[in-house]
Amino acid sequence: MLGSLSLLWLVAMTTSLVSKAQILTPQDYEEEDDEAVTTPSLAVPCDYDRCRHLQVSCKELQKVGPVACMCPGLSREDQQPDPPRLGEVQMVAEEGCAVVHWCAPFSPVNHYWLLFWESNGAPQRSGPLNATVRRAELKGLKSGGIYILCVVAANDAGESRVPEAGVEGPENWAGSSFGPCRKLIMPPRPVTLVHAAVGVGTALALLSCAALVWHFCLRERWGCPRRQGTAQASEAL
Ligand SMILES: *[C@@H]1O[C@H](CO)[C@@H](O)[C@H](O)[C@H]1NC(C)=O
Repeated sequence: MLGSLSLLWLVAMTTSLVSKAQILTPQDYEEEDDEAVTTPSLAVPCDYDRCRHLQVSCKELQKVGPVACMCPGLSREDQQPDPPRLGEVQMVAEEGCAVVHWCAPFSPVNHYWLLFWESNGAPQRSGPLNATVRRAELKGLKSGGIYILCVVAANDAGESRVPEAGVEGPENWAGSSFGPCRKLIMPPRPVTLVHAAVGVGTALALLSCAALVWHFCLRERWGCPRRQGTAQASEAL
C-alpha cells in the first residue's frame, strides 16, 4: 500500500516536472530569439570615421540610417571639446600652401579653425570650418618659413586647448604626433632653388674669370719665364 502510494507520488512529481519543463522551454527560446533580434542591430557601429573629410555627425547617421547603430561616446555638451588630432600635413612648396588633415575629438563640436604662427610672430587664425570638415588648405606660407600649426575645435561651451604660444620649446609639439599642434618647416620653392643654382653658377663663373684675369695680370707684371713656360704648355694642351 505504502509502496504503491509512493509510486503514485513519484509518477505525479515526474509528470508535473515534465509539463513544467515543456511550458518553460518554449518561453525560454522566445526570450532568446528576442535577444538575438535586438542585439546585433545595437552592436553595429555606425559608419562614422572621425578622420573622414565631410563626415556628418554620428547622431545624424543614427537619425537617417535604416537600422539603429552605435556611436562612440562623446564628452559632455556643457564642456569645452577635447583637442582634435592633427593628421597628415602636405606642403606644396610651389604654391606656398599646406593641406592639413585632422581627426575629430570624441566631443560635440560646432566648428573648427586653424591657428598658426611663425616662430616669433603673432598667431593668425583661419575662418571657421563647419563640423563636417577634416581637411583645409593653409595659404600664403613663406618658403623656408617655420610655423607652429594647431587645429582647434569649438562648441557652445568653449574651445579646445592649445599649448601656449609663449611656452618654450616647439619641440614639445613636434614630438607629440597625437596632439592638435605641429611644427611645420616650409621647404624652399623650386623657383628659389633654381635662382639659387643660377646665382651660385654665376658666382663661380665670375670667380674663375677673376682668377684667370689675376693670373694673367700677374704673369704680365712679373713676366716670369718659368710661368711663361707653363702657360705655353697649358696653351699647347
Ligand atoms: C561644410 O563645409 C564644406 C566645405 O566648405 C561644405 O562642402 C559643406 O557643404 C558644409 N556643410 C554644411 C553642413 O554646411
